Amino acid sequence: MKNNKIFVACDSTNISQIKKIIKHTSNTKLKIGYKFGLEFLNSKHGRNFVSKLKKKIIFADLKLHDIPNTCMSAIKAIKDLKVNYLTIHISAGLQALKAAKKVSGSIRLVGVSILTSLDNKALKEIGFNKDVKKLVLHQAKLAKKANLDAIVCSAQEVKIVKKIFKKEIITPGIRLNNKNNDQKRVQTPKQAFINGAHSLVIGRNITKGDIKKNIQTLIDHLSQ
Ligand code: C5P
Repeated sequence: MKNNKIFVACDSTNISQIKKIIKHTSNTKLKIGYKFGLEFLNSKHGRNFVSKLKKKIIFADLKLHDIPNTCMSAIKAIKDLKVNYLTIHISAGLQALKAAKKVSGSIRLVGVSILTSLDNKALKEIGFNKDVKKLVLHQAKLAKKANLDAIVCSAQEVKIVKKIFKKEIITPGIRLNNKNNDQKRVQTPKQAFINGAHSLVIGRNITKGDIKKNIQTLIDHLSQ
């Protein structure tokens, strides 16, 4: 089970809650990384907290989506945090991806494809003509072209992405129950790994309620 990496989404602004999440998810049978996103990294004490974390796999989910120069500058600005992973939207464009890759150094640069909270109806609303699967496939080609280190997609597209993109595939939109919240393209942890995902992002199904119990439920589910 140690090969199945789980990134726990630390979505809170509350330092005690984040400490609790880390305490109750460390030293399990699972290989755990910690994902800090817009909520925590923009909070008053969030950045400083992350800067002091030791011996953890750290995933900065900044989801950069800007012009090439700004993406580059943002990456340079976060380098002191010594994070292991950093996200950029693939829809920022090939030039921005290449520029970001130029300065990312040892940080694994992760291309985010179509968000798991979007479905075909939502894509149409935004103005895209392609459906989810075709768009994600197209974006996987861009991620490959820009030599990105990993890609984020839903577990429903892993098999398609795998044909194009041979590096790490990370899937959010993971659910152990029927409560999807704001996510549209969901999958169970087990099915996500069966589909070929290398790492999963799990937030609320771990962090809401009894964290230790949630981790045990996840371990039981994966070993069935
Ligand atoms: O609580 P839940 O498991 O839905 O959290 C998913 C996490 O993954 C959130 O932190 C969200 O920002 C992130 N994420 C996502 N879909 C993407 C990329 C990141 O849900 N495509």
